[in-house]
Amino acid sequence: MTESWTKRVEPVPGVVLYCGDCLEILPTLEAGSVDAVVTDPPYKKQFIPLYAPCWAACDLSLKPGGTCFAMVGQYCLPDVINSFPAEWEYLWCCCCEYRQMATSIWPRGISSAWKPLLVYGKEFHKFKLWKYDTLTATGGYKAGKEFHEWGQERSLFRVLLERFDVGDVVLDPFMGSGTTGVACFETGRRFIGIEIDPYYFDIACQRIAKTPRPMVDDPKNNTGKVSFF
Ligand SMILES: C[S@@+](CC[C@H](N)C(=O)[O-])C[C@H]1O[C@@H](n2cnc3c(N)ncnc32)[C@H](O)[C@@H]1O
Repeated sequence: MTESWTKRVEPVPGVVLYCGDCLEILPTLEAGSVDAVVTDPPYKKQFIPLYAPCWAACDLSLKPGGTCFAMVGQYCLPDVINSFPAEWEYLWCCCCEYRQMATSIWPRGISSAWKPLLVYGKEFHKFKLWKYDTLTATGGYKAGKEFHEWGQERSLFRVLLERFDVGDVVLDPFMGSGTTGVACFETGRRFIGIEIDPYYFDIACQRIAKTPRPMVDDPKNNTGKVSFF
C-alpha cells in the first residue's frame, strides 16, 4: 500500500474516511467488519474494469449475511452485472427514479429518468419485511450536484438505508463528496468511506463533520435525548 499519499481521517466518531485508491485500501480493512456496501461508482466505460477487483476486495470485509447496493449506469449494464463475484447472489434491481430530471443519452436517443440500483447478497437471501423497489429523487436537476459533478441526492441514500435495514457498518469505496456518509451519520450508522480524489475527499470530510449528530430518546437524560456515539 502506498502509505505516502494515503490519508486516514476520523472527522466524527463512528466515521473513518480514507483518501486513496480503494483497490489498495480495501484489503487493509478488518475482515468481516462491514454489514453493507452502499456505493455509486463512476459509470464511464473506462472505470468498469475497476468494479470486479473492487467487489472482490469488498468481499473480504463484508460479513456473511451482508449486502451490496450499487447505483450503476445503464450504458454498460451487462459488463457491470458480470463484474460481481460469483459467490454473491443477485437479489434485485431497484429503480432510482428522478422525477424532475432526465439525462439525454445521445448515442442511444434515450431520455433516461431512472438508474438501476443493483442489490447483491453474501449468504443473504431474503429481506425480513416486504420492500418496495422504487426509490424516488425529488430534488430536481441540481440536487446532489452542489458538492460533486456526479453527486447523488442525499435523501435517496437515506431512504435506501432506512428501508433496507442495511445494518450498523456501511462501506462506500467510491464515496465522492460523501453523500452516503452523511446519510449514514444522520441515520446513526457507522461509515467507512474511500475516495481517490483529494478535492472530493476534503469536501466529504467537511460535509460529514458539519452534519448534526443524530439524537435518540434517552429516559435517563433530562433532555430526553442522547447522541448515538
Ligand atoms: C459517481 S462518484 C460518487 C459520487 C457520490 N455518490 C456523491 O454523491 O458525491 C464516484 C467517485 O469514485 C471516485 N473514484 C474513482 N476511482 C476510484 C478508486 N480507484 N478509489 C477510490 N475512489 C475512486 C471518483 O473520484 C468519484 O468521486
